[in-house]
Amino acid sequence: MLYAQITGWGRCLPPARLTNRDIMEVMDTSEEWILERTGIETRRISHVMSADLAHVASERALACAGVQADKIDMIAFATTTADEIVPNTASLLQGKLGATGAACFDLNAACTGFIYAFQMVSDMIRTGTIKSALVVGSERLSSLMNWKRRESAILFGDGAAALVLQASTQESGFFQGKMGCIENTRELLAIPDYGLHAIAQHRPLDITIDFHGREIFKNAVNEMANACTEVLERSGLDLKDVDLIVPHQANARIVEALAKKLNADPEKIVITLDRYANTSTSSIPIALCEAIEQGRVRPGATILMTAFGAGLTWGALLLKWGERIAPLGESSIELPATDKTGLELIKEAIRLRDKVWHDKK
Ligand code: UT7
Repeated sequence: MLYAQITGWGRCLPPARLTNRDIMEVMDTSEEWILERTGIETRRISHVMSADLAHVASERALACAGVQADKIDMIAFATTTADEIVPNTASLLQGKLGATGAACFDLNAACTGFIYAFQMVSDMIRTGTIKSALVVGSERLSSLMNWKRRESAILFGDGAAALVLQASTQESGFFQGKMGCIENTRELLAIPDYGLHAIAQHRPLDITIDFHGREIFKNAVNEMANACTEVLERSGLDLKDVDLIVPHQANARIVEALAKKLNADPEKIVITLDRYANTSTSSIPIALCEAIEQGRVRPGATILMTAFGAGLTWGALLLKWGERIAPLGESSIELPATDKTGLELIKEAIRLRDKVWHDKK
């Protein structure tokens, strides 16, 4: 029997921080509102593209696994902020890594992307189609934000993380999962012009997030709770058999409501949203990496992950950690340095946005 063991892990958070107080300089909001309604205190803002964040995270994950990039059979790149749509960002990452033997694809299931990609790739390893893979989540959502929309712009941050999966006969890795998408909820979280729509309708580009926070909130809690219950039931496990819960990091109140619904022990839940905010598809692997670094992942641990996102997509999965919790090696790679603050980067993004819009109108 083959398993898809996690043998490497790495993350990359850009250095520039944007605090709630900083955001008050560019929009009508308050530190108290953001903290109370979301649990977010600060987030990271990237000065580089999604593929660059992914590159650093992936080099770290490969070093951790002790695997050469050219031994990787597949790169699954989950993102909603691809550097380009054609060709895909996975192939850009392939070139940066020298992963010459890898098949490459991008996957967009918004914040649930990593859950989808991890599950699909794990199954390909378990069935023997491929022997190794890099599953990456990387996002630079700060450059997509409309900083006039306070209900959405305050929520997101940038970052990336990657896992190396390898075929193993040792019982470990993904073993149960459920994915879905609620029909007719697309308008609850949408960027209507982030595709061919505007071109087909001969309109100027207007990249703005349509966002119905309360509706998404309710759906998120319900669907994640249902998905978690189903994967537990199908595995014959109870929540008390789960050692660690890694939920999508959208809002502390969503995580609390989910924990209440599942009757989960808050001690088992990994939280990073206070410092990194919602990094979309990267949020779960970033949180997992942090939990490993903090010694919260024990050999043989059972881990539950769950997410929701635009679509509205949702998913949950269960995995069993292997024996090794220490990296085999470390990479010295770092992002190119920047002396810009998060606020300076955001002001630059706003200026650029105003200019592009002005030019197009
Ligand atoms: O991962 C997928 C993406 N993430 C999500 O989809 C997040 C899901 N939703 C949420 O996290 C929450 O719904 C939000 C944090 C977005 C909003 O929290 P809420 O408690 O649902 O607030 P609300 O939308 O009901 O708004 C309450 C009030 C409104 O004012 P009025 O109409 O009551 O006077 C808003 O205008 O809060 C106001 N408001 C703000 N005030 C200060 C909304 N955004 C802000 C803001 N600062 N940034």
